[in-house]
Amino acid sequence: MSADAIPADADRDALKRAAAEAAVELVEDGMVVGLGTGSTAAFAVEALARRQAKGLRFVGIPTSQRTAAQAKAAGIPLTSFAEHRRIDLTIDGADEVERGTLNLIKGLGGALLREKIVAAASRRLAIIVDGAKLVDRLGTRAPVPVEVVAFGLEATQAALEALGASARLRLSPAHDPLVPFVTDSGNRILDCSFGPIADPARLEERIGRIVGVVESGLFISRAGPVFVADAAGVHRLESLGASAAIGQGAMRAQT
Ligand code: A5P
Repeated sequence: MSADAIPADADRDALKRAAAEAAVELVEDGMVVGLGTGSTAAFAVEALARRQAKGLRFVGIPTSQRTAAQAKAAGIPLTSFAEHRRIDLTIDGADEVERGTLNLIKGLGGALLREKIVAAASRRLAIIVDGAKLVDRLGTRAPVPVEVVAFGLEATQAALEALGASARLRLSPAHDPLVPFVTDSGNRILDCSFGPIADPARLEERIGRIVGVVESGLFISRAGPVFVADAAGVHRLESLGASAAIGQGAMRAQT
């Protein structure tokens, strides 16, 4: 399976919806469910609302204000970490999924900090993507979004560039003239292009050591299962163990 398997005219939304609907089947009565952010995760929220209307009982913890608004409008009951320290299952999108390891880049939608907090508290993180997001090496197409505090931004940017990135301040598309994008937690995002990343776990550690960095969009050894939709159908990928998961052999696919 590769991006080549997706016809140029494929309806990408239909693929996103198919992946989302497959993941939503994992939700069971009584679960606490993490609700992801982004256009693919929005299809999962829609599908969850439909299952709820048919009698499924669950509560959701949203990863962004945007998702909270969508879930509330759809009638999904929301909860918080004050009531629940652990989440049974989170369903979220991703910007890149590395074949084999199932390591991720997330955060092009700007919600990476809350997404990572929710993922860290989740027993399982189901990721939903269309086939164009699968890559052999993270960083091939997407930059690594890094959430940073506004104070000292230029110094933090220089420290990220010293790691080999070209780091660009994300701007808000909703404003004219352009102003910096501000996250739900009041921070800024530097989109850091490293090119293909040989050792994402080490890079995550090195980024995390920079003063001024809040969190990076590298999600290492967190995802599973990953539902990938392409023209051939929805494929379920499982990592066979974080440390051993290198290359195609470490991935099991079910169609
Ligand atoms: C949000 O911050 C992101 O992590 C999204 O999950 C990711 O960008 C995928 O978004 P789409 O489903 O819109 O591509």
